[in-house]
Amino acid sequence: MEKKTLPFSKEQLKEITKKYPTPFHIYDEKGIKDYAEYFVSNFSWNNGFKEYFAVKALPNPYIMKILHQKGFGADCSSMAELLLAEKVGMRGDEIMFTSNDTPAEEYQKAIELGAILNLDDITHIDYIEEYVGIPELVCFRYNPGALKGGNAIIGNPEESKYGFTREQLFEGYKRLKEKGVKRFGIHTMVASNELDADYFVETAEIIFDTIVDIHKELGVRFEFANLGGGIGIPYKREHKSVDMKKVSDGIKELYEKYIEANDLAPLKIFFESGRAITGPFGYLVARVLHMKETYKKYVGLDASMHNLMRPAIYKAYHHITIPGKEDQPHDKLYDVTGSLCENNDKFAINRLLPKVDVGDMVVIHDTGAHGHSMGFNYNGKLRSAELLLRENGTVEQIRRAETHDDYFATLDFDGLESFS
Ligand SMILES: Cc1ncc(COP(=O)(O)O)c(C=O)c1O
Repeated sequence: MEKKTLPFSKEQLKEITKKYPTPFHIYDEKGIKDYAEYFVSNFSWNNGFKEYFAVKALPNPYIMKILHQKGFGADCSSMAELLLAEKVGMRGDEIMFTSNDTPAEEYQKAIELGAILNLDDITHIDYIEEYVGIPELVCFRYNPGALKGGNAIIGNPEESKYGFTREQLFEGYKRLKEKGVKRFGIHTMVASNELDADYFVETAEIIFDTIVDIHKELGVRFEFANLGGGIGIPYKREHKSVDMKKVSDGIKELYEKYIEANDLAPLKIFFESGRAITGPFGYLVARVLHMKETYKKYVGLDASMHNLMRPAIYKAYHHITIPGKEDQPHDKLYDVTGSLCENNDKFAINRLLPKVDVGDMVVIHDTGAHGHSMGFNYNGKLRSAELLLRENGTVEQIRRAETHDDYFATLDFDGLESFS
């Protein structure tokens, strides 16, 4: 079993919490950079390979800037994410706009930035033509339906709201061709938090096979295949991270078999991973406010599910460390809870931990993706700060905590006086 370690000592964390009160998410810059380099290095065989970081996983411009400096683009799904990419200085094909049920203003903004449009539905061809015009490069999101088994988080592709059917894909590219489009991409995303390397190789095979068929039927040549995100991370100690060398080797073999053999090279391979890139390098740091004992033993934190929703909505496992007590026997059974008026506001249920005391610091692991970004304000809870543990060991605040003024900023209290 892999050990779950922390990039800071208990003493360091104590110092950090003196300056920045809990709860907060803290990200490990070195971990993110090293993994980013590892990820990309596996695909050096593919000229033009690019990873578009899925901004929704960790929409913080400082993190995006770090990744941009490593050659990453941004996969955006909304106006806010496009604006963030713009702030970070990204333009053109550094941005992939993969959205669904998309409003015209967002397409407009994506076009303004020169982003690659990835359409989720065949009706969007007419929609973009009407509202923003058809760009010279267009990508479609393919939903392979029964051809591909889904997984627990994303579900069965046939039940999924995303993407074109195979028939719509052929019809769509035909229509684009008739409209004069010359540059094409294809995209799919059929898994979420998948740990099996073969799954991504199989996905590549479905896409490459489809590229060959579309070329045969329509004469369309593709510039890129975006294989989506969904690469899992070892939330549990018994999990193993995805071997990206294995993924890459498998894809390379298929590239030779389908793409090169049919004279369809060069084809750029893209990914739009979020979780794999930053997930393991984020930690939610909280403090124990109360210990409660009724029918069960509860550890009540100063963080709640508004800081990290995954355990509540997916019953997701997040490892918990009590700094300084790592080597004590983990023989006390607890539910670790937050303070929301929701009984599923639990970071862990029936978790064996060392004896916990009021005032202990608690570190919840693997919160670097779909953590802070899934936060919300129910019960008037405020979103926490985000900190960055720099490579040189210093800590920078890269997002301050919300205040009650932020929370109430959309209300006009003065209007109450004349309101009856
Ligand atoms: C279209 C799309 N791309 C990429 C991602 C990133 O997924 P992950 O963070 O699991 O890699 C998501 C996640 O929701 C997505 O919907």
